[in-house]
Amino acid sequence: MPTLNWIGKESVVNHDKEVPFRLLKKVKVHSVGNNSQNLIIHGDNLEALKALMPYYMGKIKCIYIDPPYNTGNENWVYNDKVNSPKIKKWLGKVVGRDSEDLCRHDKWLCMMYPRLKLLKDLLTEDGVIFISIDDNELDNLMLLSKELFGNENVDLMIWEKVTSNEGKLKIVHRYRTDHEYILVLYKDKYSTRFRKIEELPDIINKTENADNDPRGDWISGNVSTREEKSNKNSEKYFELTSPTGKVWKREWKYDKDEMLRLIKDKKIYWGSNGDNVPRLKVFVNEVKPVYISSIIRNKGTAKRANVDVGEFFGERVFDNPKPVDLVKYLLKFSEYKDGIVLDSFAGSGTTGHAVLDLNKEDNGNRKFILVEMEDKVVKEVTVERIKRAIQKYDYKAGFEYCELDKPLFNEYGQIDEECSFEQLATYIYFIESNTNLDKKLINKNYIGNYNDTEYYLLFKDKGKNVLTKDFLRNINLNKNKKIIYADKCLIDENILIKNNIKFKQIPYEIKVY
Ligand SMILES: C[S@@+](CC[C@H](N)C(=O)[O-])C[C@H]1O[C@@H](n2cnc3c(N)ncnc32)[C@H](O)[C@@H]1O
Repeated sequence: MPTLNWIGKESVVNHDKEVPFRLLKKVKVHSVGNNSQNLIIHGDNLEALKALMPYYMGKIKCIYIDPPYNTGNENWVYNDKVNSPKIKKWLGKVVGRDSEDLCRHDKWLCMMYPRLKLLKDLLTEDGVIFISIDDNELDNLMLLSKELFGNENVDLMIWEKVTSNEGKLKIVHRYRTDHEYILVLYKDKYSTRFRKIEELPDIINKTENADNDPRGDWISGNVSTREEKSNKNSEKYFELTSPTGKVWKREWKYDKDEMLRLIKDKKIYWGSNGDNVPRLKVFVNEVKPVYISSIIRNKGTAKRANVDVGEFFGERVFDNPKPVDLVKYLLKFSEYKDGIVLDSFAGSGTTGHAVLDLNKEDNGNRKFILVEMEDKVVKEVTVERIKRAIQKYDYKAGFEYCELDKPLFNEYGQIDEECSFEQLATYIYFIESNTNLDKKLINKNYIGNYNDTEYYLLFKDKGKNVLTKDFLRNINLNKNKKIIYADKCLIDENILIKNNIKFKQIPYEIKVY
């Protein structure tokens, strides 16, 4: 299989291992509710993903990312070029002096490689990663993904981002660019369970033949967008009058000719009193299964995405978001209605909004983790949008806002003073077992069992974390091997061996991940 080479590659292939492990600090004032298990993290996603590892390794079911496309357009709220001062500084540190010679594609690849590696580690065995991308980096991203995930674990879909009746289209070369791409990556394609068939189009409830239509049973389908969500500039925004004379003005699913035809064909139901919001009568005998296609159409456009963000802010606060419907559609591929959805290039927070909206729609219990690097974006757009969406649509959810805190180990290899027992226990259990700690099992100094080895941690008061005979008297000295982390050990080596105990000194024998 051909592999891709670029300047700086050798400096980043193992860089994920060198990223310092940071703690996450919850910030209450920016959070909403308690224990919602949704997270918004402010920080560079490289460090944020690493910080998530002891908690979420192999646990994320779905990842959607929309990284900078590397178009060279500098005028956006975020800096789309990888010349962003933060990324530049990072490249200087990681790649060293050679970073001056890197072209923008080299830089982009250096930025993506370690991040994609960490994302793969976070994914469940049956999980899926969707990546939005355009022509600028598609070829590079394809090869990079095949190198990291294997040839057969990379698929490509097309998203139709404009519809032909949307004005002001950008013409590149000789034809309009109406699409972008969505790369689909799996750890193991055959373990990932996808729906084959889309659900019936926008069916809202199962009212069967409410008006005793002699043509047969029908179910009710959606033909309109809520008034407050309607795009007033759309050709599909117009008035319709019900049989009783009530006027409904909003954005409809079809254009005027089609809506009038449906009314004429008596395929629109206005409710039992004749003036409710109109519904489409979807006759059961006419419904055909719609197979999921590699071309994604009618799932929101780039223009629609601006309306989605704009509904919460009077002015334009973020350029080039993705539409909520697109992310909802991708989430719906999975047969599961739970699990964690991660977006490490969160921008305006579309993925968080999509998770909440889909949960409300299908009674799901998905959780989100969003990571955004830019201070202004995360506080003024990501957090605000999710807060306002929760209020406006009464989503039964909240989120915790976190900042990346100091590294767990300082430059002298000492553990940060503010590190809590639970944080250190989580980290130690993770590096010992490569799995995540179950907090419920923590019992005083006992932190968990992995492969018949019991782990203990003495880390309460500085200077008092000593492994003594007293301590041993209070634990169950069964046959299992025991690894005990403490500052000091006052027990004879022979006694340790006799009891199948290994003492590991903090911090020197804590492996740095
Ligand atoms: C194309 S936008 C994502 C838009 C998003 N899908 C939406 O619908 O709003 C990319 C976002 O990633 C953020 N970003 C870029 N590099 C990052 C990094 N290393 N860590 C975290 N966020 C980053 C940018 O600040 C920007 O907000």
